[in-house]
Amino acid sequence: MSVADTVRVLPHRTMRSLFISLSHRGSLARMAVRSPLTRPVVARFVAGETLEEALAAIATLKRAGLRTTVDVLGESVTSAELAAAAADRYVATLPALASRGLDANVSVKLTQMGMEIDPELCLSNVMRILDAARAVDGFVRFDMEDHTRTDATLALWQKAHEGYPKTGVVIQSALRRSAADVERILAAGGRVRLCKGAYDEPRSAAYVDRSTVDANYAKLMERLLTSGSYHALATHDPKLIARAIAIAEREGIGRDRFEFQMLYGVRRDLQRTLAERGYTVRIYVPYGHEWFPYFMRRLAERPANVGFMLRAIVKEETRRLRGH
Ligand code: FDA
Repeated sequence: MSVADTVRVLPHRTMRSLFISLSHRGSLARMAVRSPLTRPVVARFVAGETLEEALAAIATLKRAGLRTTVDVLGESVTSAELAAAAADRYVATLPALASRGLDANVSVKLTQMGMEIDPELCLSNVMRILDAARAVDGFVRFDMEDHTRTDATLALWQKAHEGYPKTGVVIQSALRRSAADVERILAAGGRVRLCKGAYDEPRSAAYVDRSTVDANYAKLMERLLTSGSYHALATHDPKLIARAIAIAEREGIGRDRFEFQMLYGVRRDLQRTLAERGYTVRIYVPYGHEWFPYFMRRLAERPANVGFMLRAIVKEETRRLRGH
């Protein structure tokens, strides 16, 4: 059996845990960054390493009728300098987007802003990003990391939202606490991006069975759609998307009252079909050098991606050995 076939038959949860645990391995990251073999596969999910590359990818998406939010890749920084440098990159990205007529909309991870080093440092980095957003009337979304960061992320979002309302936060249907969190965010007039959750969570905090995660997504999605405020449904799951459309039609909720969100490089066919049908579809566009943990989570979501990557590597390696 080939490695790709082995990967295909492993249980989904085993694969997911394996790739998520690999996402924390810095040595692997360095090896992967150096290897030219992984680059074409990474390029499917990551818009480039530089801002200029990302701007070109975003302009292409805009021409196809797609909206965007930008993630300057990075997470779990280990020093105040790195956190400040990450905030600087967002501060530079927002006006660059606005000056080219692109969506000044960014997605930020708080562990990249120094949340684990010092909450005050994190807050001051976030405030700088909010100032940059305010200057161009932009939007800032706080990504959600694993369940140990949920409280801190929601608290910081709340603070940010009080000073600048064009902000939003993410809720994961995998977490048992999410229904209560949604109610708190709605009461504060906040905007939610609903996703399933990309992290390997313990049973005490999360549903591990996929059908329960999906059922919870459907329940939270209905609550958000019928709440009267504007939210984002982040999923590539065709069943949930069809259900969202059915709820909206049943309740008379206009296509301008919510949006779908999808990841760069994932279900590009569906992205375009929905946009052509008149729905707002926003693509999450990551760029930067620190793509390894993000890329590993994308592999974890879909075992077929691993086979796809391994086949590309074998093909390249065979070509190299044959001297092409
Ligand atoms: P599911 O995993 O069931 O996939 C449904 C279908 O989509 C699959 O059958 C496949 O066709 C396709 N698909 C999904 N993932 C794929 C992949 N990687 N490669 C190829 N095909 C794929 N998570 C989080 O914890 N915190 C966050 O802040 C965010 N933010 C976020 C923003 C946006 C815009 C999106 C779309 C997603 C996130 N996520 C996230 C990730 C999210 O939690 C989840 O891991 C992925 O979206 C995959 O879940 P789906 O809802 O697509 O369903």
